[in-house]
Amino acid sequence: MDWGLRNRLSRIIAPGTGRSVMLAVDHGYFLGPTSRLEVPRKTIMPLAPYADSIMLTRGVLRSSIDPSILNSIVLRVSGGTSIVGEDLSNEGIITSVEDALRLNASGVALSIFVGSKHERQTLLALSELVNEGQKHGMPVLAVTAVGKELGKKDARYMSLACRIAAEIGAHIVKTYYCDGFEKVVESCPVPVVVAGGTKIPEKDALELTYNAIKAGATGVDMGRNIWQSDNPIPMIKAVRKIVHEDATAKEGFELYRKLSKLK
Ligand code: 5RP
Repeated sequence: MDWGLRNRLSRIIAPGTGRSVMLAVDHGYFLGPTSRLEVPRKTIMPLAPYADSIMLTRGVLRSSIDPSILNSIVLRVSGGTSIVGEDLSNEGIITSVEDALRLNASGVALSIFVGSKHERQTLLALSELVNEGQKHGMPVLAVTAVGKELGKKDARYMSLACRIAAEIGAHIVKTYYCDGFEKVVESCPVPVVVAGGTKIPEKDALELTYNAIKAGATGVDMGRNIWQSDNPIPMIKAVRKIVHEDATAKEGFELYRKLSKLK
């Protein structure tokens, strides 16, 4: 691996702990103004100091993020679909690696839809992105999409999707936590980060974080369970404590309650 690529990766995965808290705020690329992300700047800027990396689109980066932030940027570069359109799996590459470089991104992210009718198209897009990324030392994060029409959200499906992403050359794979998650991590030869999924109670989201780390995940790429919380800063701090300090879910939740001034 060349120096530039390793340097960018070390801006996403903290060398001190080998872990990462990525803040996912890319949801608007197909959902539009998602609840509590209606004004991206208002949601993202207060949380930025507590994230290692921020995952977002170039449109939100350019319009809503101060260029002086210290976080690394992982740019969502796949899209072309919407929640009201016909098929969410029909994605393509919407942002070039050249533009990602110009924006000083430390990585680019693309979704793959294994098991969908656009499986081949999205896997070939991943391979194109890896090929292009290799020329410039740009790491690629593959997001294994889930959905009713795709396989069941279980260890067998997640292992299949994550392994395929790694085989094609993704440097990091983002997936969803499931029972038997250690099997997913074990059979994926590159770092795995977990999404939070739809909003659940804070205690449960912190348990998910703890269980994922215990099973070998490198960190989280979490969105709604942070910024849809009534107390987003205490929530991201609690997630950080689990990811970077090996705190238990209970310790994380105690911190969340204390910082949120909850009884
Ligand atoms: C969508 C994404 C999102 O970034 C992902 O879903 C993470 O956010 P959340 O924790 O809200 O699930 O990649 O494809």
